[in-house]
Amino acid sequence: MNRKDEEEFEKLIARLRDDPRTQEMKKYIQHGAVTTYDHCMDVARMAFVLNRRLRVGAAEEDVVAAGFLHDYYLYDWHVHGDRLHGYHHPKIAAENAARDFGLSPDAAKAIESHMWPLTLFHAPSSRVAWVVTLADKICSAKETLFKRSAG
Ligand SMILES: [Fe+2]
Ligand SMILES: [Fe+2]
Repeated sequence: MNRKDEEEFEKLIARLRDDPRTQEMKKYIQHGAVTTYDHCMDVARMAFVLNRRLRVGAAEEDVVAAGFLHDYYLYDWHVHGDRLHGYHHPKIAAENAARDFGLSPDAAKAIESHMWPLTLFHAPSSRVAWVVTLADKICSAKETLFKRSAG
């Protein structure tokens, strides 16, 4: 990101990032050695950049909020014992995010559909949903590849 992007991203992320409730995500591992917090921050940044570079035109506040909170499910899925975590966590994250941060309906729906096509009946239905889904796939692939190459 260039300096202008960084400054504008900072304005949008500050309130969410500095909240003790989102800091909780530092306790949980997403993939390999990457915490859920780091993954969510990467997805927020990636979604913000894709939205600008590809001229998607989604509302930036929604893109950053849905990107950062898309995995705000607040448990360790490795020990939680839920083999259907992939299917269940989007709804849990959306509910937690709406409860704690009062998201717009578009942002909440984007969180619910971010695992599509795994969650077949919750397909992205807005610009913000598409950009968050794409950003999550890119960031997750990077984390998984890094883990494999590092053994
Ligand atoms: Fe997720
Ligand atoms: Fe994710």
